[in-house]
Amino acid sequence: MGKNVFITGIGSGLGKALAKLYLDKGYTVYALSRHLPEELKTKNMKFKKCDLSVLENVKCCVRELLNGVKEIEIAILNAGILGDIKDMYETSLKELEEVMDVNVWANKLILDSFIDLKINVKQIVAISSGAAVNCNRGWSGYSISKAALNCLIKLYSREMEKTHLTALAPGLVLTPMLLYILENVDENKFPSVKRLKASPKRTPEEAAKLLYETFPKLFEYESGSFLDVRKM
Ligand SMILES: NC(=O)c1ccc[n+]([C@@H]2O[C@H](COP(=O)([O-])OP(=O)(O)OC[C@H]3O[C@@H](n4cnc5c(N)ncnc54)[C@H](OP(=O)(O)O)[C@@H]3O)[C@@H](O)[C@H]2O)c1
Repeated sequence: MGKNVFITGIGSGLGKALAKLYLDKGYTVYALSRHLPEELKTKNMKFKKCDLSVLENVKCCVRELLNGVKEIEIAILNAGILGDIKDMYETSLKELEEVMDVNVWANKLILDSFIDLKINVKQIVAISSGAAVNCNRGWSGYSISKAALNCLIKLYSREMEKTHLTALAPGLVLTPMLLYILENVDENKFPSVKRLKASPKRTPEEAAKLLYETFPKLFEYESGSFLDVRKM
């Protein structure tokens, strides 16, 4: 029987490239996202349309998608949103909540669903960010959500003893999310953007290949760790 991979957020960027890579390698890809790109529509793509910001629907989506699945080689919690880059003082609680819902609480519900459904998930990787620890000016809700995601993964690692969990920062990837920052954010008010512009970046395809090669190496680290591909 072929191997199964679960990925959230395959509509663009890193998730789309990861889904393509796993399909090309013969995996069956189970995906939750709002959009299914044309080039991913193949026999081995099992897709459930799901808006992860609508938290009351998330468990139902996972249950429908994974009905009958007993084993998952790797679950990649990739879906994420940035929110506006602006000062904390300018950011409302509602805006912070929106980012937390997709980047953190939807993932909690997905992890709970794996447990409810008694699926044997060998490895879970949550796509985190250096922003979780940098907390640069303007990264507001995004930084808070990725710090909380790292904590969420560590907490579940204590409970999911048969699964290896990691939060992994993927490095800079030229996706719509990063392009938005590079093209729209004032680098004088938010100096970290100047550094981003000067730093090396990967295409989504290069990043997906690097992550694919990195995932087996994560087992060398304690379950629950936060790691950064740039430091491994
Ligand atoms: N690019 C970077 O340099 C970088 C650096 C550090 C961390 N990351 C992280 O990498 C991950 C992927 O981001 P990306 O760079 O590839 O950006 P992206 O192109 O904006 O991708 C975001 C993904 O999340 C999905 N998504 C967003 N809102 C969703 C919702 N409400 N429900 C379901 N899916 C949703 C999107 O799919 P749909 O549109 O189909 O819903 C899309 O596939 C994120 O967790 C991000 O924080 C990226």
